[in-house]
Amino acid sequence: MNIKSDDRDGEEIRPNKMLIAQFVDIVGKSNAICDPQEMAPYLEELRGLYRGKAAVILQPGSTADVSKILKLAHETNTTIVPQGGNTGLVGAQIPFSSGSEIVLQLGRMNKIRAIDAQNNSITVDAGVVLQTIQQVADDNDRLFPLSLGAEGSCQIGGNLSTNAGGTAVLHYGSTRDLVLGLEVVMADGTIWDGLRKLRKNNTGYDLKHLFIGAEGTLGIITGVVLKLFAKPRSKATAFVGLNSIDDALKVLEMMRSDAGGVTSFEIIARIALDFVLKHADGTRDPLSGNHPWYLLIELSSGEADGALQQRLVNVLGKAHELTLISDAVVAESESQRLAFWHIRTMITEVQKYEGGSIKCDVAVPVYRVPEFLRQADMALHRILPDARACSFGHLGDGNVHYNISQPLEMDTTEYLDMWEEISAAIHDVALKLGGTISAEHGIGRLKRHHMPHIKSDVELEMMRRIKTLFDPTRILNPGKLL
Ligand code: FAD
Ligand code: MLT
Ligand code: ZN
Repeated sequence: MNIKSDDRDGEEIRPNKMLIAQFVDIVGKSNAICDPQEMAPYLEELRGLYRGKAAVILQPGSTADVSKILKLAHETNTTIVPQGGNTGLVGAQIPFSSGSEIVLQLGRMNKIRAIDAQNNSITVDAGVVLQTIQQVADDNDRLFPLSLGAEGSCQIGGNLSTNAGGTAVLHYGSTRDLVLGLEVVMADGTIWDGLRKLRKNNTGYDLKHLFIGAEGTLGIITGVVLKLFAKPRSKATAFVGLNSIDDALKVLEMMRSDAGGVTSFEIIARIALDFVLKHADGTRDPLSGNHPWYLLIELSSGEADGALQQRLVNVLGKAHELTLISDAVVAESESQRLAFWHIRTMITEVQKYEGGSIKCDVAVPVYRVPEFLRQADMALHRILPDARACSFGHLGDGNVHYNISQPLEMDTTEYLDMWEEISAAIHDVALKLGGTISAEHGIGRLKRHHMPHIKSDVELEMMRRIKTLFDPTRILNPGKLL
């Protein structure tokens, strides 16, 4: 794979041995990684697109540790790259190649601090893995609805810092909507205890929202109070084949008005399904025949009986009569439901077996998705006729992962060298349709250079001032986002 480099690479001076030893003392030797081989997994993102170096990797065990580390970093002008599960897709969690930065890996901070079922909230350390939170909520007859393919390894601090979306945004909102309170260590080591459990609190600026989606550039999130929800008593899930993306939107409308409880409405292009069937062991096509598009629809409700399933079947029947869909199968068991979801969540991983992949995580107003897809295909094929658009994603949110796999016969490096040209053409289409070039993955290193084109001068200036206020010496993840 191509390793992407950018202008900060090689810019800084490494902290000297004495200073590194001071940092190591804070967490203890057993919680500091200095050996290059042991460091390696933390210094490369999963697609191999970014690889960096670090002076040391520190694994703090408490908020107090983080505070001491930042105080020292602030005093000595040492830059810090926060890292959670290292599943981010824009390179923000990877240090640059100078070797001068310290990676602050939050994984040891993995305690469930409190579960407050009556208040429908849970308080956790930032390093708790998302799946663990889902499980603890479930054990307490509650739901924590954030769900995404990387949930087995991403951490809640990383989810917050990227304002992750995932497959249930349609019903529950994105990560931002799931947060009640935060604990943050500021750049100079000051601890802000904002771990409130309130659903209403109109007492001025809501500061927690500044840290959500900030990609570790404003402070280190160490704790969070999250909203919990009633656990759905029933789920009804369908895998649907259809001919046209325009019809998919009509089906969404019908599901909303006639079935209700639409939690996920995911689109999968045939080529994405083909990649999964080819590369993911044990998967099989839920439908017969070849359909250009597929939907994975999930409804959820508090009803315990089969009413929801029946409504799903009825709406699908009506959609079939109206020739909006060509085939559908409704999951009859939990294992069949999970098999549908396995197909969907494997798409990210299997693309790497098809050579270079250029990712465009775009969103447009939902009703413009068909227009976006048509125009993006045209723009892409004008540049590279044999490129393979592997589109999938959160159609219900207007968020398409327009990921482009290289032409079969092309050299991967030569293809990835076209990243800027191709992504610019696709971004252009999204922007002209009133959309965004980053729906849920963030800006990081990958899209930082686009910021002057997508934000007004006024917005950029406000962002810069906020950054300067929170991190005057620019030690927190510099060169990312802004
Ligand atoms: P990392 O990758 O380690 O870090 C991400 C960012 O957060 C970096 O800027 C880092 O510096 C910062 N950070 C991490 N922890 C902290 C902290 N405690 N304080 C301050 N800053 C911190 N994203 C979606 O939105 N929707 C999806 O559906 C989705 N699906 C995915 C599927 C797969 C298979 C993969 C690999 C990724 C997917 N992603 C998705 C990307 C997504 O951003 C991440 O998976 C997740 O939110 C990042 O969490 P992480 O713990 O891995 O963070
Ligand atoms: C997903 O929804 O699976 C990820 O956000 C997408 C990706 O791999 O682009
Ligand atoms: Zn996604």
